[in-house]
Amino acid sequence: MSQAMVQLSEVTGEGRHAYKVVEHEEEDNLEHVHLLHIPAENLLISNNAPKISIRDLHRYTDSGDLILSEISLDISAGTVLGIIGPSGSGKSTLLRAINRLWEPAQACVFLDGKDITTLDVISVRRRVGMLFQLPALFDGTIADNLNYGPSLKKEKLSHEKMVELLRYADLDASFLSKSVVGLSVGQSQRVALARTLANNPEVLLLDEPTSSLDPVSTQNIEETILNLKLQKGLTIIFVSHSLKQVQKIADVVCVLANGNIVEMTHPSELQHSTHPVVRRLLEAS
Ligand SMILES: Nc1ncnc2c1ncn2[C@@H]1O[C@H](COP(=O)(O)OP(=O)(O)O)[C@@H](O)[C@H]1O
Ligand SMILES: [Mg+2]
Repeated sequence: MSQAMVQLSEVTGEGRHAYKVVEHEEEDNLEHVHLLHIPAENLLISNNAPKISIRDLHRYTDSGDLILSEISLDISAGTVLGIIGPSGSGKSTLLRAINRLWEPAQACVFLDGKDITTLDVISVRRRVGMLFQLPALFDGTIADNLNYGPSLKKEKLSHEKMVELLRYADLDASFLSKSVVGLSVGQSQRVALARTLANNPEVLLLDEPTSSLDPVSTQNIEETILNLKLQKGLTIIFVSHSLKQVQKIADVVCVLANGNIVEMTHPSELQHSTHPVVRRLLEAS
């Protein structure tokens, strides 16, 4: 494949994964579309040990109301898991437990088989990066923002590394010297993503990352998520309010309702579900 811009879309299951590859050749500026079939055993995701394991994760409010009820699930390395469910169903709480923004009970959340409550919390947050609905950037340039994480380890990113991080987030090198003031929300979200990637995370948590973005920025972020899975082998867990988005980019979908998993399946299987919450999601999409 040439040094061309590659856009990926469409992922299918059943042991074979097909990616629609659109190459923009620099020489002739033409779009070349072809399908790239990759046997599952050749993919980075072919790793049986779960990257993240959740066992009987539960949470109640101080007044005893249920937020999460005995959640258990495994996510293998390189998988994109989409979490969907009504507002207040516990999606953000579940996500926040995975990098200890909310502290889970002991022996409920495991990263590479290790109980995350026994690991250094800063190292957990580096290995498990998070992106929120609204990007929060620091004042300064985009380069300053990218260097924030590394500077805490007394490291400085090379120019090449910063350009590479921006490229993953679909931004060009000219952004490095720009101030964050004046960026659109979509651009800010992509800078926030590049900044998270600067910590070299193994797992990415995304909490409704596109719900404040316009359709074009949304598509950019969706393509970026697929690229990160494919090129970096990242394990990605994202909360979405859009069933269409989940069906587009997730390998596995988890439907939450009232703090319980009511469905965990391949996105294309969701249509066969008889659960009323899933039926409502399908009808609304
Ligand atoms: N710290 C907290 N104290 C009390 N209730 C909370 C707290 N955090 C979340 N909740 C409640 O737990 C439920 C799930 O919240 P959340 O995980 O944010 O849901 P979702 O992201 O699916 O909308 C909501 O009813 C919310 O009000
Ligand atoms: Mg939420």
